[in-house]
Amino acid sequence: MTTVLITGATAGIGAAFARRLAGEGHDLVLVARNEQRLGEQATELHDRHGVEVEVLAADLSEDKGIEAVEARLRDPARPVHLLVNNAGFGNKGRFLEVSMADELKMLKVHCEAVLRLTAAATEAMRERRRGAVINVASVAAFVPRGTYGASKAWVVQFTQGVARDLAGSGVRLMVLCPGFVRTEFHERAGMGTDNVPGWLWLDADKLVGAALRDLGHGKTLSVPDPRYKAITGLMKLAPHRVVSRASSTTGRKYGPK
Ligand SMILES: NC(=O)c1ccc[n+]([C@@H]2O[C@H](COP(=O)([O-])OP(=O)(O)OC[C@H]3O[C@@H](n4cnc5c(N)ncnc54)[C@H](OP(=O)(O)O)[C@@H]3O)[C@@H](O)[C@H]2O)c1
Repeated sequence: MTTVLITGATAGIGAAFARRLAGEGHDLVLVARNEQRLGEQATELHDRHGVEVEVLAADLSEDKGIEAVEARLRDPARPVHLLVNNAGFGNKGRFLEVSMADELKMLKVHCEAVLRLTAAATEAMRERRRGAVINVASVAAFVPRGTYGASKAWVVQFTQGVARDLAGSGVRLMVLCPGFVRTEFHERAGMGTDNVPGWLWLDADKLVGAALRDLGHGKTLSVPDPRYKAITGLMKLAPHRVVSRASSTTGRKYGPK
């Protein structure tokens, strides 16, 4: 039995990680902002799977929220064996349409929180010579896609670099790069997705199953679907302007404010 801390655990991909890992008998620490939703999810997972589920309401766009999760990860009395840095969001609009405050908030959640929580978790894991971190990025990391893509490219580079630095320490890191997944993400960001073909959509539960298999196989980068493996392969070969045009429009149709 191990304990897994998941950020952004109340919806979408994070909730799929929580369901899957609770089903496998792991205790959970669920992190998100909505306290009521966290409580309901904890009760449901505990009742269904008999695992211990702790909740930690924290806003990772604020220092106070990051500090609370760092403290939980560093608590020697309650070791966390797997950290899933998953919390994230999209902003509504292109560059200069989004306020600087929202751009910075994205960097705080996608980069600073991931950096600080990875450090807190891996320091404790390295002492125990055991543990793993999954950082959720996106295939958007491989294409020009504003602050969102740039922040996810940072997650990819950061995770692979740390995985190398900690090789042999007993601590494993993997970055997960999903394509389009049916979650609350696009609706929350006010993004219309009717120009995204149906065949491009992934199921969160299947995505998580494939990601955990990749972690088990020791991968440091997981693009867990043959469709997206092919697309990311083609993106490396296609002319940059073609990739750039396609990626800047697909799934970025913003509704009225
Ligand atoms: N869906 C996709 O197509 C897709 C594709 C590639 C990558 N991703 C990435 O996958 C991750 C999960 O996205 P999702 O699609 O599952 O989105 P989602 O369904 O909107 O869920 C987002 C989760 O993050 C939490 N969250 C958001 N802002 C937070 C903050 N400031 N502090 C703490 N928790 C916060 C939300 O809970 P609260 O609102 O209660 O805080 C929620 O639990 C993100 O990093 C996203 O960039 C998604």
